[in-house]
Amino acid sequence: MAIFPIRTFGDPVLRLRTTRVEVFDGALRRLVEDMIETMYDAPGVGLAAPQIGVSKRVCVFDAGEGPRVLVNPEIVDVSGMWSFDEGCLSVPGYYWTIERPAFARAVGQDLDGAPVEYAGEELLGRVLQHEIDHLNGMLLIQRLDRPTRKAALRDLRNPAGGSAE
Ligand code: NI
Repeated sequence: MAIFPIRTFGDPVLRLRTTRVEVFDGALRRLVEDMIETMYDAPGVGLAAPQIGVSKRVCVFDAGEGPRVLVNPEIVDVSGMWSFDEGCLSVPGYYWTIERPAFARAVGQDLDGAPVEYAGEELLGRVLQHEIDHLNGMLLIQRLDRPTRKAALRDLRNPAGGSAE
């Protein structure tokens, strides 16, 4: 197993829509082991493959019940709304209050290619939505309202604080 550097805002791999996994082999298993180790080391509650530079449709998470993996996941059901201070390992140091559905259900496959489903509210629901956004090339910044997003992008592109010098 290995801990990988986490790609951060501005890295083009984070903007790509990932490709589906077709082969469920040892390489996939090793990728997932590395992702879990990297997630715990960060530490984070979720990690998507693009965050370690792999544009494949794989994510891992631990919403309090141990490590879980989802291969080729899609959100199939959401309901309710919930505001939560959301952060991302790829945008370190920033948290924004983001409103999203409280409940989410995701379907995908496990490491053997068998169908698997995770569903939950609050933290689990949030992690599923956040990680699957990553797999669609989307960062949490794109979930901010327009003025907050503009301010966030200005900060991220000019961390010195807007000085023209
Ligand atoms: Ni993230």
